[in-house]
Amino acid sequence: MQHHDPVAPHPGQRLTEAAVTVRGNAHAPYSGFAVGAAVEDGDGRIFAGCNVENAAYPEGTCAEAGAIAAMVAAGGRSLRRVVVCGGGPQPCFPCGGCRQKIREFAAASVEIDMVDPQGKILARRTLGELLPDGFGPENL
Ligand code: THU
Repeated sequence: MQHHDPVAPHPGQRLTEAAVTVRGNAHAPYSGFAVGAAVEDGDGRIFAGCNVENAAYPEGTCAEAGAIAAMVAAGGRSLRRVVVCGGGPQPCFPCGGCRQKIREFAAASVEIDMVDPQGKILARRTLGELLPDGFGPENL
């Protein structure tokens, strides 16, 4: 019989905490819409990113893009799980471009949680639900 340490975070909680925490570093003075994202790679490593806006508005980058870039820079090439934290109470779903960026490294079954700043799950979707019939590396 396995006993769980009541103090240890349950699976997924560390990832959610990373997304919530990094949102505090978002640079979003133009939209006022701060976003944090965290990804877990195939080795269980966690990477976080926030949106970074720019005075030249279209040059801003999304939180998901930052988290994925950090994973790739560390050698990670597969996404096991994704959490996106917006301001709530509406879930912050990844934009179309970020769905494609996730697609590059994730199977259709990978779950993406949209959480509020308290870490409450507002919506949960698989990548396949967010990007049906997506075009990916295997299609080349
Ligand atoms: N944004 C993200 O970073 N991730 C999302 O999932 C949705 C939108 C950012 C882009 C921009 O800095 C701000 O939120 C408003 O669109």
